[in-house]
Order: sequence, then structure tokens, then C-alpha cells
Amino acid sequence: MSITKEQIIESLKKVLYFPKGSNVVDLKMVDRLSIEGNKVSLALVYPHANDKNAHIVKDAALRTLKADFGTDAEFTIDTLSEQEAGRGSLGKVKNIIAVASGKGGVGKSTVASNLAIALAKTGAKVGLLDADIYGPSMPIMFGLNGERPGAKDVDGKTKIIPIEKYGLKLLSIGFFIEENKALMWRGSMASNALGQLFNDAIWGELDFMVLDLPPGTGDIHLTLVQSVPVTGAIIVTTPQNVALADVRKAADMFKNESIKVPLLGVIENMSFFTPEDCPDKKYHIFGEGGGQLVASELGAELLGSIPIIEAIAKTGDSGIPIALDDSTLSAKIFNEIAKKVIRNINKRNEELKPTRIVQIDPNASCATD
Ligand SMILES: Nc1ncnc2c1ncn2[C@@H]1O[C@H](COP(=O)(O)OP(=O)(O)OP(=O)(O)O)[C@@H](O)[C@H]1O
Ligand SMILES: [Mg+2]
Repeated sequence: MSITKEQIIESLKKVLYFPKGSNVVDLKMVDRLSIEGNKVSLALVYPHANDKNAHIVKDAALRTLKADFGTDAEFTIDTLSEQEAGRGSLGKVKNIIAVASGKGGVGKSTVASNLAIALAKTGAKVGLLDADIYGPSMPIMFGLNGERPGAKDVDGKTKIIPIEKYGLKLLSIGFFIEENKALMWRGSMASNALGQLFNDAIWGELDFMVLDLPPGTGDIHLTLVQSVPVTGAIIVTTPQNVALADVRKAADMFKNESIKVPLLGVIENMSFFTPEDCPDKKYHIFGEGGGQLVASELGAELLGSIPIIEAIAKTGDSGIPIALDDSTLSAKIFNEIAKKVIRNINKRNEELKPTRIVQIDPNASCATD
């Protein structure tokens, strides 16, 4: 007797995905069902990557199918996140890059914003999500204070439309709260708000989504990197030893068994100071070689060293990130970093996810509206 798709679907209706209190068929979790002779393969799609229940549900599905169709049939069940299956708000987002640091104030937001611009200049489609719920900085860095994202009804649900500037799609919790109002939310509220920026926004097709994480390694970070399929993490540090201890903590978080996000590299910010009138002089105010040391220790690449440059701070405050001005040393450094990031992501995707490789156009340049 040959097995039909209808029979498999009927059988899988007995398999529950208990967090949602229904079966995997009604929850539309079954995907890529194919039958060749006695070989049946399918995928179960979960809302988030690394779903804690995935292996339990998969075992239950295998047991049920074997009980219904006997042991002569062969069953293969893959586990996919909605993003991997091409579904949901992040379904067309090829790569998600988290920019993190153990310590605050090391220049994460500066790096995330300028890196996003440098990536977009290669011709890639780029989004930037300011995940710093407590201290959002994107509205100021992109000159968007007071702006509010639009909304649109999609299949009866209200979806957020990211703001577009300099060719990037942008979202930040800062677009939804009044300026200077510190958020006194509990962790769960903050995580929910963040979840909406990911899952209830129309991100569309993106080659890269850059995430500017809040400082530290707290609950928000864990929830975030567990629930969003992060492709890789970049750690920003300054050269001092105190900062380096925190970097190790941040790196450990990504290595965590339930997360296992690979490190794409380390960026050393505020590496040295060069006075404008003596461009050949480098003053290593915060020590020397710390970024390289920590990168080697973590088995990661040092993607670049960014000097202390007054214009970086000034342009950050004025809403025109420095990476937009290709005549500056800073833009050149960010362009180099972006190339290395793309290379490292593509290297990883060649092994795991060939469909996510991003071709770059060296002649393309970012809009400067
Ligand atoms: N290389 C640099 N040269 C000069 N100023 C810099 C540089 N990098 C960052 N800054 C400035 O340092 C300050 C802190 O940077 P930024 O906000 O990017 O850090 P952060 O790590 O995101 O901070 P937080 O932990 O609060 O989120 C900002 O005023 C920024 O303009
Ligand atoms: Mg920041």
C-alpha cells in the first residue's frame, strides 16, 4: 500500500505542540512534505529558532507515524524556524548580525549604525534594529527624533512599517516613546516590546539585519538571542583590561549551549587617538593590543580598530553617521569591516545555508537622503 500525503497529515493531527495547546497540523507547522515510495520527509516549523520543545515534538511525531504506518516506512523530520522556512516577518531576512558588548558606552551603537551603512554601500539590503530598550540611540544617530513609524493592516493584523533613511530600514523602541523618558519596564515587558519590533514589522527582503543590543549580558539578551535566529555576533570592545573581562562574559553568552551563536569577530573601538594636525602620531590612551588579545583568546578575527575621532561623536549627534562620507578615514575603516563581516558570514553560510550567501556590488553606493 502506498502512503499518501493526506494520510500523513491525518496521522500528524495526533501530535500536539503543547505550548500552543493544539496539534502541529492545525498550527500549520508541517512543511515540505514529500513522499517517495516508502520514504517520507517533512519539516516541522517553529515560531523561533532553538525552540526548547522541538526534539520532544519531533520524537512524538516519529512515534505516531511509525505506529500508523509500520516500521517499513522511513521517516525524516527536519526542524526549521519560521525564518528558515521563509515565513513570518523575518522570513525574507537572510542574515541577522548582533552587535554586543559586555560593558556600556564602548561604542556599540556607533559601530552598529556605521556598519549597517557600510553594508548597504555594498549594494546589500540592510535593516537596523535598535534593541536597546532602555537607552535607544537610533532616533538621534539618524536625525529622526520625534518621527513615528507608519502602520499597515496585513491579514487583519496591524504591522509596523520601518522608517527608511540612508537606504536602511530602521526600527527602535525610541520611535514609540517620548524623548528622555527612561523606560522603567520590567524585563518581560521590554522583551515583548522588542518581540513586536521583530515579528510585527514589515521587514521584507533583507540581506542583513544589524541588531544593536543593549549593554551587558542580562535577561533581555538571553531571550533575544534564543528567540531570534541570529546568524552571528560581533563584539565591540575598548582596549582596557577592565573592558576585556566584560567581553569574555558577552562571548560566553553567545557560546551558551542553548544559543550557540558563532562569533563573526571583534571590533576594537577607541583604539588610539590621532590629533588632526599630526596624522602620523597614534596615542594609545587606553593601552595597546587589547582587541587583538581578546580576539585571539576567543578564536575570532579582529575585524578592525577604530580610532577616537571627534567627527565620529559629532556626526553621531547630528544624525548623519560618518560612514556616509567616503572621504573620511572612519568610513574607509567601516567599509573594510563590512567586507570582512560579509566574507565571514558567507564562509559560514557556504557550509550551512548556501541560499543565504550575499553577493556584493563594489560599485553600489548608499542613498544619502
Ligand atoms: N571612535 C569614536 N571616536 C569618538 N567618539 C566615539 C567613538 N565611538 C563612540 N564614540 C562616542 O562615544 C559615545 C558612546 O558611544 P555609543 O553610544 O555608540 O556607545 P554604546 O556602547 O552604544 O553605549 P550604550 O552602552 O550606552 O548603549 C557616543 O557619544 C559616541 O558618539
Ligand atoms: Mg548603545
